[in-house]
Amino acid sequence: MVNHRKTTLVLTSDHLGRAAEILRSGGLVVFPTETVFGLGADATNPQAVAKIFEAKGRPSDNPLIVHLASTDQLPQVVRAIPEPARRLMDAFWPGPLTLVLPKNRAVPHAVTAGLDSVAVRIPNHPLALELLRLAKRPIAAPSANRSGRPSGTRLAEILEDLEGRVDAVLTGPLPPLGLESSVVDVSRGHERPPRLLRSGSVTLEQLRQVLPDCQPPEPEADAADDEIRSPGVRHPHYQPRAEVRLFNDSTQLPVDPADRIGPLMVLALTPADRALPADCHWLTFDSLEAYAAELYAGLRQADRLGAGQVWCQRVPEQGLGRALMDRLGRAAAARM
Ligand code: TXA
Ligand code: MG
Repeated sequence: MVNHRKTTLVLTSDHLGRAAEILRSGGLVVFPTETVFGLGADATNPQAVAKIFEAKGRPSDNPLIVHLASTDQLPQVVRAIPEPARRLMDAFWPGPLTLVLPKNRAVPHAVTAGLDSVAVRIPNHPLALELLRLAKRPIAAPSANRSGRPSGTRLAEILEDLEGRVDAVLTGPLPPLGLESSVVDVSRGHERPPRLLRSGSVTLEQLRQVLPDCQPPEPEADAADDEIRSPGVRHPHYQPRAEVRLFNDSTQLPVDPADRIGPLMVLALTPADRALPADCHWLTFDSLEAYAAELYAGLRQADRLGAGQVWCQRVPEQGLGRALMDRLGRAAAARM
């Protein structure tokens, strides 16, 4: 049997030059961004990009986001910047907003899964920006997790999923936001209004302050097959081993050990309203922002505790709540 495992270096910010060198020579480097950790490779190198899909076990029809240090690099990856895109960049970059733009021919097929568009963002995280500057290349980076699992927001989770599969992990300030970037399709210029494809920390309400005609994400059932513009959304996502269930009201929870198998984990905005048995782990968040920042770590903690189920409290679908409910809904979706 061939052993593909490699030694994974854990590098601090003192070794950014080394991390950039690994990227420039076609290797894989995990790095923190303001949203989640990214699993980066040189976006101009098809062999390097192929390694991302292998390390994650990612379906090849799910395109990647290209990360840039500055807008000066845009001509390397896009062939046009429609006016609405320019306005979103001015308002939200660097930051947790990805723009889908008409692709430049130089971008390898593997990055965009054959689409004529490319997803691009400038992250707002000091280490990520410095790494991108030193690498001097556009860097393709999906979230740093095995495909289908909750995205990585902590060093231990990155190593759990990817140790031996990537060349290096860059450590530093943890991703403060905890949910992936908002993805907006602005590739169709004047033909179609901009559409939010994936909700994130830049909310629909904020996007509409800049582009009043920005459309909400299309309900998946309504999208015709040849119309699915964010292909990744069809695959399972954010799922721990524990079964994820959603609740509104704590009376629904199987707190009594007789009502369940194994420990119980609860992620909620409201504190526990009764005494809990020792194997019921109830995490309370004091804001939507804290819930978003801790969600993936909480789902993975449920697995470490051996929980059979993790119950997550629903939130109103507005502002950041839209992104949170999107991730909760996918985490709770029935498995294939
Ligand atoms: O916050 C983030 O966006 C993180 C950090 C690392 O930057 N990255 C991330 O990547 O979440 P990933 O691969 O987990 O999600 C990329 C999303 C998928 O939903 C994918 O379908 C969509 O972006 N996407 C990429 N290229 C696209 C394109 N050309 N057209 C439509 N959707 C695209
Ligand atoms: Mg992902």
